[in-house]
Amino acid sequence: MAIFERINVNGIEKALFVGFGSGEEIAQLSSKLGRGALIYGIEINAMLVEASQNRLKEIPQKLVLQSARAESLPFESTSMDFVFCRIVLSEIPDWKRAVAEMVRVIRPHGRVVIVDFVSYNPDWLAVSGDAHPGLDPEMVAGVLQAHGMRILQLDNAAGKGTIGSLHGERLWVETFFLEAIKEAEETLNP
Ligand SMILES: C[S@@+](CC[C@H](N)C(=O)[O-])C[C@H]1O[C@@H](n2cnc3c(N)ncnc32)[C@H](O)[C@@H]1O
Repeated sequence: MAIFERINVNGIEKALFVGFGSGEEIAQLSSKLGRGALIYGIEINAMLVEASQNRLKEIPQKLVLQSARAESLPFESTSMDFVFCRIVLSEIPDWKRAVAEMVRVIRPHGRVVIVDFVSYNPDWLAVSGDAHPGLDPEMVAGVLQAHGMRILQLDNAAGKGTIGSLHGERLWVETFFLEAIKEAEETLNP
């Protein structure tokens, strides 16, 4: 199933996209969100912020894009209903801190969706080595759980993503899809 078809947009009034790149993911989800939703995005590359701002100027929702790092999100705690992060964590050495930040900004009952490359694919490792090892989905899920999130979906074969070429052949690797919900405080501290 396509990534955006898996996402239940009910109750999403404030959505945050972490490392949105070209903004394609924002365009996709915006078509499912209500017109009154607020869409935020952060991206480390300021040139992509400007390009995406132009690309997305027709979307009906209010859009606030800025340059920032996933490891230090410029948002208040418990301020977002939904956080989306696709193929970004595997580029961040301290990805666990970025996960902690995403959990921090999610409100109780809010959800986070993480999509990234699965680490154990041998083709991927042959080409990328230590620079881009991908991530172990179970480890990412474990970090979310350690921060009080409950796993709703974990699919270790959510579709292929391309990472370049090997011996002239285009190289595709598996991605995982992980969705988690923040437990309400009374569940965390009974
Ligand atoms: C492979 S691209 C994915 C872009 C987009 N999420 C998508 O799926 O099309 C990774 C993106 O993460 C951004 N990025 C890398 N490290 C980051 C960090 N520490 N904080 C925020 N963005 C980061 C890069 O600039 C790049 O745009």
